[in-house]
Amino acid sequence: MAADDDIVTPWNVTSKNDTGIDYDKLIKRFGSSKIDDELLVRFEKITGKKPHHFLRRGIFFSHRDMHTILNLYEQGKPFYLYTGRGPSSDAMHLGHLIPFMFCKWLQDVFKVPLVIQLTDDEKAIWKNIKIEDAIKLSYNNAKDIIACGFKPDKTFIFSNLEHIGNNPAFYQNMIRIQRCVTFNQVKGIFGFGDSDPIGKIAFPPTQASPAISGSFPFIFKNQKVHCLIPCAIDQDPYFRMTRDVAPRIGYPKPALLHSTFFPALQGSQTKMSSSDNNTAIFLTDTAKQIKNKVNKHAFSGGQATIEEHRQFGGNCDIDISYQWLRFFLEDDEKLEEIRKGYTSGEILTGELKKELIEILQNLVTAHQETRSKITDDIVKEYMVPRDLGF
Ligand code: TRP
Repeated sequence: MAADDDIVTPWNVTSKNDTGIDYDKLIKRFGSSKIDDELLVRFEKITGKKPHHFLRRGIFFSHRDMHTILNLYEQGKPFYLYTGRGPSSDAMHLGHLIPFMFCKWLQDVFKVPLVIQLTDDEKAIWKNIKIEDAIKLSYNNAKDIIACGFKPDKTFIFSNLEHIGNNPAFYQNMIRIQRCVTFNQVKGIFGFGDSDPIGKIAFPPTQASPAISGSFPFIFKNQKVHCLIPCAIDQDPYFRMTRDVAPRIGYPKPALLHSTFFPALQGSQTKMSSSDNNTAIFLTDTAKQIKNKVNKHAFSGGQATIEEHRQFGGNCDIDISYQWLRFFLEDDEKLEEIRKGYTSGEILTGELKKELIEILQNLVTAHQETRSKITDDIVKEYMVPRDLGF
């Protein structure tokens, strides 16, 4: 199967292969670098922390300029984290948690400021959502994001529709960036056409601006600070553009850490999506819904009958329950035991699913409990433009 059949854009991720996207080929196509053992060894040496299981397992698999960030950290020089979310629906799903769980860990390891952009403007343009409703979605999603445990004194969360009009430095950088990119270039990078609303064509600089520290004078006091962006690899086009423009407006290129996609329940050919209830587990699902969805829909790499399964064993590469355990079961030894047991046929699909269901139920219940305590006032505190002790 040619990897060229894989489609990876900010709006569409599909593969015809049942093991999903060929990520090594994607690294070549995008021109990024693989997160290899050497980088992980260096990461551990410099930070004194064992790399997160997302790094150890290749869930974050690709980077740009991560060595530069480690050099800065080694020299005691500052940098900051930037990530974001397009708040397209009230209910966030498990896949949406991945970059935020990882950012929370990075923030704890490096003790650096984090800015989180909520692109409600993007969603208003692309999904034709009313401006007022898009802002509401931002506030709603902010609660789920805050529930991931970000430090209030080091984290700034903002809605584009609310914040940019109050922050001239941000708008000025948008214009600086817009001046540097031609229509031909955005067509090439994002595939926009003559009939797209001009809002789409103008949008990419909005997502680029937070990577320029000058956009947040209240945090960075007009210093030119390096930025590290953890994101799913489909967002890379935005940041290829940003990396091209940043030096031209006098700033360092942002570094990146790219993740693979969180696969849909039905299989790795596509990522989890909010628009199809049955491909996703939502952070609002009950324990019972989680159990039913996994049992009914999680694509199985097991054999058709127990006899055949005992004889031939299961295929972890395509089995969604196993793939999801790689994301959420932290214990390396236990995961390896399960992999061996399932591959040899000793563990049945039902048993594998049971293991996953329990982990997901615990995770989602804990998330719901934390989220229920996050009031509108707490959200507002994170959204106030303020000094983050930088
Ligand atoms: N466009 C992203 C989305 O639709 C949201 C986003 C904005 C983002 N800035 C980002 C994601 C920075 C990752 C990193 O979800």
